[in-house]
Amino acid sequence: MTLASRLRGEIDASGPMPFETFMAACLYDPDGGFFTTGPLRSVRSGDFLTSPEVSPWFGRCLARFVAAEGDRLGSPPGLLVADVGAGSGSLLTGLREPIGLAAELWAADASPAARDALGGVVGDSNVAEQLTNLPAGRPTVLFANELLDNVPVSLAVREAGGWTERWVGAADDDALSLVPVPARPEVAKWAGLFCGTVPVGGMVEVQLAAGEWLRRALDHIGSGAVVVIDYGGTAEELEPRRTRGTLRTYRNHHLGHDPLLAPGETDVTVDVNFTALLAVATAAGAKAELHRQDDFLAVLGLGDEVSRLRRLELELARGGDAVARLQVRSEKTDAETLMHPRGLGDFRVLIARK
Ligand SMILES: C[S@@+](CC[C@H](N)C(=O)[O-])C[C@H]1O[C@@H](n2cnc3c(N)ncnc32)[C@H](O)[C@@H]1O
Repeated sequence: MTLASRLRGEIDASGPMPFETFMAACLYDPDGGFFTTGPLRSVRSGDFLTSPEVSPWFGRCLARFVAAEGDRLGSPPGLLVADVGAGSGSLLTGLREPIGLAAELWAADASPAARDALGGVVGDSNVAEQLTNLPAGRPTVLFANELLDNVPVSLAVREAGGWTERWVGAADDDALSLVPVPARPEVAKWAGLFCGTVPVGGMVEVQLAAGEWLRRALDHIGSGAVVVIDYGGTAEELEPRRTRGTLRTYRNHHLGHDPLLAPGETDVTVDVNFTALLAVATAAGAKAELHRQDDFLAVLGLGDEVSRLRRLELELARGGDAVARLQVRSEKTDAETLMHPRGLGDFRVLIARK
């Protein structure tokens, strides 16, 4: 039986389900979830492309960040570098390249296909399924690149007199539909705190579980930093998107807007609300800062690397080695893509230190 028919059966039997329950099934159902079944998703032949897949310079720059964090922590023995939602492991591969990075590398991913790939990068014994399966209480730099945009959300809609939620119910035919229900108090409270001005009828993705993930991550590490990198913005920056909301799907690099159409067959994702995450980090006693990805990578020297590659490309153009020149040009273009101000450069980087 498909995930869609199972979900429909559950709704027919018990009534509408909270959107976060539906989204969790779409992504993580053991027999039909988008991540838990099927191939690696975050690769060129997959469904979407991420920074570490675009260029190894992403991981190489993060290696410089890790080195600086190691210094800040007094070069502790047994520094752990972990990537949660690590996909193919390309971030850790790039990060491990620079000579002299002395750290124990760990990866976690909910996808069995990803865990297979990650075994080849960090060794099977250093691969886990979830954050909570990683070694705890150690000095750690923990990365989550494009993870929290997948953490299941509740849906709240602004009404003239407050908030309602949208749960997943049954339409007359076999289809699913969003149905209005009164908002649970915690959902209404989050929406009121972290969404700025929302027009009547506007949709807000309530990210309580993403906040809970960050709180657990900070609790899990002994000292160090949790670094969340993702699309999204502050509550203010997300305000213009509040009419339709930011909920969307991806499959085979194609964008869609209806997560109810093919449960388990598409990625389901939202823009991350970094104001809410900053509040969680601060409440957990961490020191938090927020940057744009282009600025963050520039500070780590990516702009200089791009300039160096540009000069090298010019030299090779004069010297006549066409193949080498094309390779350098492609490396330079990929590195530039990481900083494109309306693309990956517009991602946000939250650093929460303890
Ligand atoms: C968009 S991909 C990003 C992969 C990788 N971080 C990258 O940048 O290429 C999201 C990854 O997170 C994994 N994932 C999603 N939710 C997760 C969770 N709660 N815990 C661990 N991994 C998760 C998925 O299986 C997938 O490999």
